[in-house]
Amino acid sequence: MNKIKTLINKKQIKKRIKTIAKEIDKDFKDEQIIIICVLKGSFYFVNDIIRKLKNKNILIDFVKIKSYSNTSSTNNIDFQLDTSFNLKNKNIIIIDDILDTGNTLYFLTNHIKKMGPKKIKTCVLLNKQARRKKEINADYVGFEIDNNFVVGYGLDYEEKYRQLQYIAILKK
Ligand code: XMP
Repeated sequence: MNKIKTLINKKQIKKRIKTIAKEIDKDFKDEQIIIICVLKGSFYFVNDIIRKLKNKNILIDFVKIKSYSNTSSTNNIDFQLDTSFNLKNKNIIIIDDILDTGNTLYFLTNHIKKMGPKKIKTCVLLNKQARRKKEINADYVGFEIDNNFVVGYGLDYEEKYRQLQYIAILKK
C-alpha cells in the first residue's frame, strides 16, 4: 500500500460543507436546483451537501467523465454518461470533487450551457490552482490545496481509498 497522510479531517469537511450549503441556500432560496454529480469522485460530497440544504426543491442527476490530463493530449475527455434531464431554463449546480487542470469542469460547463439552463453554478470540494490549464474557477469551493495528489472522501488512486472519511495526501 502507498503511504497516506491526513490533509483535511472529517470535522473540517463537515464544517465547511455546512457553510457551502448555507451559501447555496442564500443564492437560490427555494428555487428548484438540478444538482449534477460528477461520478465517481463526488458522490460522497454531493450526498453530504444536499442533506444540509434547507431548500427541498432539489433534483439530482449524474454524469460520468474521465479527463486524461497527464497525457500529451491535454484535452482528452472520456464522456461516459450524460445527464438525463431537460436542463432548459433550469438552475444547475455542477458538483465535482476536485478542480485541477480544469479540463473536466470546462468541458462540462460548456456542454450544459448548450442546453440553455437559466443559471449554471459550479461547486468543488477541492481547488488545486497550481495545475490549472483552463480558465475556470468554481463558484463554491471547499478548500484550496497545494499541488499534491489527494485521495479519500470519494477521491481515488487506482480506484482505492474512496471510502476514507477524510482527505489525505498520497505518496506514490
Ligand atoms: P481536472 O484536471 O479535469 O480534474 O480538473 C478533475 C478530475 O481529475 C481527477 N483528479 C484527482 N483525483 N486526486 C484524485 O484522486 C487528485 O489529486 C486529483 N486531481 C485530479 C478527479 O477525478 C477530478 O474529478
